[in-house]
Amino acid sequence: MRTDTRTGRGLPDLASIAGFADAMGRDWDRVRVTPRVVPGAREATAAHRARLSERFPGRALEVRSGGAFPRNGDQLFPFRPDSDLVWLTGCTAPDAVLVLRPSGAGHDAVLYLPTPILPGEPGFIDDVNRSELWVGPAPALSDWAEALDIRVLPLSELVPDPARLLGGRAPGTSGELVTALAELRLVKDDWELARLREAIESTVRGFAALAADLPTAVALADRGLSGERWLQGTFDRHARLLGNRTGYGTIVAGGSHAATLHWDRADGAVVPGELLLVDAGVEDTSLYTADVSRTFPVDGRFTDPQRAVYELVHAAHRAAMEAVSPGSTHVQLLEAAGEVIARGLHDWDLLPVSVDEAMSESGQHHRRYLVCGIGHHLGLDVHDCGAAAHELRPDSALEQGMVVTIEPGLYFHAHDLTVPPELRGIGVRSEDDVLVTAGGHENLSVAMPTEADALAAWIAAQLGNPPV
Ligand code: GLY
Ligand code: MN
Ligand code: MN
Repeated sequence: MRTDTRTGRGLPDLASIAGFADAMGRDWDRVRVTPRVVPGAREATAAHRARLSERFPGRALEVRSGGAFPRNGDQLFPFRPDSDLVWLTGCTAPDAVLVLRPSGAGHDAVLYLPTPILPGEPGFIDDVNRSELWVGPAPALSDWAEALDIRVLPLSELVPDPARLLGGRAPGTSGELVTALAELRLVKDDWELARLREAIESTVRGFAALAADLPTAVALADRGLSGERWLQGTFDRHARLLGNRTGYGTIVAGGSHAATLHWDRADGAVVPGELLLVDAGVEDTSLYTADVSRTFPVDGRFTDPQRAVYELVHAAHRAAMEAVSPGSTHVQLLEAAGEVIARGLHDWDLLPVSVDEAMSESGQHHRRYLVCGIGHHLGLDVHDCGAAAHELRPDSALEQGMVVTIEPGLYFHAHDLTVPPELRGIGVRSEDDVLVTAGGHENLSVAMPTEADALAAWIAAQLGNPPV
């Protein structure tokens, strides 16, 4: 008898006990599980495969979902499939491999999936990550094939053919195929735009729930507990409820924490009299994500310095939004917002040089207070299509159907000696998700206002709302 190496406690390995293993393999009813596939995914992903096929005539292609990352022992981090595989198939199962083999003028697609481990099969008793005894019944491969309208074969039948294959690397690594997929994903089709609208709608509901929870978050400070953490939990719970999960680590930053761009540790208090910056996005069940930021006074009233900073960011926000249209470049958007910021900083005597010098390529002094860019593409990934060559060229122009974030900010760190004391510790970011349209743009996250008083009123209006 082998000992149970999984628990390491010298216990008998149940799977190796013949009587037990035999009995466990019998008398189970079959459970049919229908894969969760968002309506329209079959047609949309078939069109995506056709676009990829066109790009690589005569070449075999392989794209992998990846598997769950081990945490320790038999524990895994939550699995989230690689976005390219999702874009091409709609499949959310781990360890999936899509192979496109040249055929005629195009390609034949086969999706290889691991088979679920059923009663009586090897691993049923002790494969804690695949056996339906441990993880629950999973869809049969035939159910995946029907749901996705694609040929599905067992992963065990995938024969590696590294010589002729393009792709086949771990997800997310660079290469010709990764770059091509990032470029193909830049312009969203109508089905993708509908998914993004849903993700944004759920995100607005998550912000509303967070706003309704502000009194609880404030009160936690009396017990030495973190209101930021409470609100992060509120948003994240709604992301789980309304979508898949969050599209990135939720940022809830009270007071001076807002000046730290990626404050996702969220271990501070939520204090009346301070601002609260929230940057959060629900990832829809289709795995498209929103990315929205709002900054508002915890008690509903801006102090004069807070309002001044907020108004300057808001003016920069409007300037960048107005510049979004087909043909605009990211650099132009950054300059539109940057010039407003630079002029405002100059008026406050915070620029060591003229506005023109700050705006010059060799200057950029204003960006001490906004070191990030003006935004990024948005889609299946929060920083979508980063591998696209398009993203690397400063003159790459926006096109109709692209979705970008516009997210100017001002970040005055509490220990920044260039800033007068009344501005230290104020951080503001205002972030919307914006569709490039033929005539300009559409603000997809307009349901949450950005004008200072309208936003404070919207936050106040959520108080007392029932959760969800
Ligand atoms: N939340 C990440 C970003 O705004 O880019
Ligand atoms: Mn963003
Ligand atoms: Mn964001």
